[in-house]
Amino acid sequence: MTETSQRRILLIIGGGIAAYKCLDLIRRLRERGDAVRCVMTKAASQFVTKLSVGALTNDRVFSDLFDLNDEREIGHIRLSREADLIVVAPATADLLAKMAGGHADDLATAILMATDKPVLVAAAMNPRMWSHPATTRNVALLSSDGISFVGPAAGEMAERGEAGIGRLAETLEIIAAIDRVIGRAAKGPLTGHHVLVTAGPTHEPIDPVRYIANRSSGKQGYAIAAAARALGADVTLVSGPVSLPDPAGVKVIRVETAAEMLSAVLAAPHADIGIFAAAVADWRVAEAADEKIKKGAAAAPQLTLTENPDILKTMSQRTAKRPALVIGFAAETEAVIAHATAKRKSKGCDWIAANDVSHETGIMGGDRNTVHLITADGVESWPDMAKGDVAKRLVSRAAEHLARTQVDV
Ligand code: C5P
Repeated sequence: MTETSQRRILLIIGGGIAAYKCLDLIRRLRERGDAVRCVMTKAASQFVTKLSVGALTNDRVFSDLFDLNDEREIGHIRLSREADLIVVAPATADLLAKMAGGHADDLATAILMATDKPVLVAAAMNPRMWSHPATTRNVALLSSDGISFVGPAAGEMAERGEAGIGRLAETLEIIAAIDRVIGRAAKGPLTGHHVLVTAGPTHEPIDPVRYIANRSSGKQGYAIAAAARALGADVTLVSGPVSLPDPAGVKVIRVETAAEMLSAVLAAPHADIGIFAAAVADWRVAEAADEKIKKGAAAAPQLTLTENPDILKTMSQRTAKRPALVIGFAAETEAVIAHATAKRKSKGCDWIAANDVSHETGIMGGDRNTVHLITADGVESWPDMAKGDVAKRLVSRAAEHLARTQVDV
């Protein structure tokens, strides 16, 4: 993302009958404040003209890899560098095949080969071409390369009497997919600030197939990351293994173990606020087996455990690059406030969000949470709320605190 909130979208228009719908896509994206620059394939110019596309983007339209003037002024690498996201719409069967095969013989494919930006593909083609095994293979390959897809949808085709899956996704669906991939940078009290969040459990290997885990779903940490993003922050979410979608516009780093989580947290850029919501395993197996442990030995295997690094404590107690506000969580099953108050001291963090995770509360893995916020000023008990609301309240409090302390400095 750019530092301003304007998103820069490079739209590659492929040569399909649905290309005309890109005009509406460009118009709506620009209405929403996005900058749109277009590249057209040779086939695309059979369906829409550079003139109409350029009139809507209010920019030059690029199409030729070998246009010396274009290459000298704005080469294909720069087209990619100056974008936050590349959208390919409509992507034809041929364009998908070229992308999957790594071709780079025209401007569109050269950009797609040279880019390190996220790519979103809105495919549109005849249903038979979409269901052809070659297209299925190409889509699977591109997905495994990290490319996102929206559509195609089912419906009537331009060809008379043809129906099936192959229509370009609706404009608003494409825009929703764009929001999912790069997020909409709201301007808010946390604009210009970096928030680092940990979430989810960690998995500590016993052998290549078994691990020690816990019941954390990651829902609270993911909601916190989304809430911080909604207030305009740049957010890095270091997540243990969970089955939740990435929050829009948040940089997500997926890890398995506590050691990996610590490395990712230490490697992240300096954060103004650190919120450590992960349920990090306290122990790992001292020496995980390289091969699967077999049954049948005389005695059951003995697991020797060793303590994991404490990420919250490490971040709270470091002198360089300590976030101005460090918030930990305390999941307790008894004497919640007493234990959490002691934990705030022992870890060295600024605030602790404490909750009762006894089985009957249903908090672990559930959608609601009852939190006591423990700060240097005392304890504030919040009512039972949805995890999303807990996240919003916590992040707003953190933003207020940051604004106050920064004024004081
Ligand atoms: O010590 P305990 O696990 O109860 O502390 C909970 C808090 O400490 C949470 O904020 C959790 O994310 C953090 N923690 C950590 N690294 C550990 C253990 C806990 O960051 N190894």
